[in-house]
Amino acid sequence: MAQKTRPGPAVAVGPFFQPDGYVLNNLEHIEEEAKRRIAAASDTRSLEDLRVLFLGRKGKLTQLLRSLGTLSPEERPLAGARANEVKNAIQQALTARTAELAAGEKREPFLDYTLPGRRVELRRRHPVNQVIEELVFIFCDLGFSVAEGPLIETEHYNFDALNTPPDHPVRDEKDTLFLRDFPLLLRTETSPVQVRTLEHTKPPVRIIAPGRCYRNDTADARHYPVFHQIEGLWVDEGVSFAHLKGILLEFAKSLFGPEAQVRFRPHFFPFTEPSAEIEATCPACGGGGCRTCSGTGWIELGGAGMVDPAVLAPLGIDPEIYTGFAFGIGPERIAMVRYGVTDIRLFYENDLRFLRQF
Ligand code: PHE
Repeated sequence: MAQKTRPGPAVAVGPFFQPDGYVLNNLEHIEEEAKRRIAAASDTRSLEDLRVLFLGRKGKLTQLLRSLGTLSPEERPLAGARANEVKNAIQQALTARTAELAAGEKREPFLDYTLPGRRVELRRRHPVNQVIEELVFIFCDLGFSVAEGPLIETEHYNFDALNTPPDHPVRDEKDTLFLRDFPLLLRTETSPVQVRTLEHTKPPVRIIAPGRCYRNDTADARHYPVFHQIEGLWVDEGVSFAHLKGILLEFAKSLFGPEAQVRFRPHFFPFTEPSAEIEATCPACGGGGCRTCSGTGWIELGGAGMVDPAVLAPLGIDPEIYTGFAFGIGPERIAMVRYGVTDIRLFYENDLRFLRQF
């Protein structure tokens, strides 16, 4: 028989005379071929085909076994034992490869390269936080640094130290959310940060303090029990109302553009004297009057005033030497005007369809 360099597939042989060693030789070929093809099989279906091809009723091994009878009595038991070994080896190879494929299928699920890629969604900041960030940048450019205070305050910082006497109406439970651990409360404004800052920093002090505030308000289109303020405070020798106006005008121009103007309307706050409400020209109409500004041409930005000596003195700051101004700006109002949002509640409902637009 011509010797091939690689053993070819075993041929089916009938029960006729074979030269010595033929069956044993073929058993080796069958084992080698079966193992090679089983190892290369890439799915359970082709493994089943290979099982039929080698071990099936008409399979290569089965056919070969049929020719055992033609062997000499000496060779027969030898070939029989070897045939059993080969059969077990193939069976084992099949089992092993089946397990291997099953494990592999678990590790790497079928990947369909024709599917479109998964979209990476870019996260974005909440619109109110976007406005706060912008305001912080503007005031940092004007020389302010950022201070912070706790959301849970004491009556002392939220009221007493801000010259707000115990019988003042803003202390009413209607407005203030008190905690069960009296005298703790949720701060109603960011102004307590003024006191906390002046307590540990001697003038000159020039800070802003952005943060959340809470009031026991019923939610409607313009009110929400949670909102933000950006507090501003500048205390130094010779600080006047003119500085306050200058800073807020610069601020309004940076925020709304060079045409923006500011105006001040007399108001009252316990911790500033004089006090004012800050208004800027409506950026929606440029001052002509529109729906955003209810036809007035002006929008309200917040409150401001000269820090009351009654606030400075208890902190060891001599009001005869030092003066200062403070302001509180509402970023929600600015966000509403800028984005044309007519209901403040939208900012707090966390509806992604709304938030994704910013
Ligand atoms: N805290 C005041 C308010 O909530 C605003 C304000 C801040 C007024 C600073 C004057 C000075 O209405």
